[in-house]
Amino acid sequence: MTKKQLHILVLHGPNLNLLGEREPDIYGKTTLEEINTELVQTGKDQGAEVKCFQSNHEGQLVDWLHEYRSWADGVIINPGALTHYGLSLHDAITAVAKPAIEVHLSNIYEREVWRRKSVIAAACKGVIAGLGPDGYFKALKQVLKILRSD
Ligand code: DQA
Repeated sequence: MTKKQLHILVLHGPNLNLLGEREPDIYGKTTLEEINTELVQTGKDQGAEVKCFQSNHEGQLVDWLHEYRSWADGVIINPGALTHYGLSLHDAITAVAKPAIEVHLSNIYEREVWRRKSVIAAACKGVIAGLGPDGYFKALKQVLKILRSD
């Protein structure tokens, strides 16, 4: 039986465009382009189309969630620092009502106190933090599993 082609929207928030050069001891040396290329390929291998976007602006992330709400079956989001205060992003994820997984490269729970709270997590099915780029691939596998078990 052929699997239904699923569509996954991947959103990266502020400063993630600098991955590879930004605090590599915390965020690693892998660039965002490398992560996105591999996500698209891994998606293809698993029968899914993956579209990736990055913005430093909360409103743009909200706009993409709205714009792709009919296209996307599921969402993977690393909100960057918006994790900790981006209430309109929380509301947009809730509004589009797609299974979403929040991803963080670093373990936000072992860092500064203000990073330990996510205002996005309550709008998501799950959160993966601290596994570096692997977190995105685990999220992809998981969101496809959730969608295929519906
Ligand atoms: C991050 C963690 C956030 O606290 C931080 O502001 C980021 C990246 C992560 O992937 O570990 O920009 O989301």
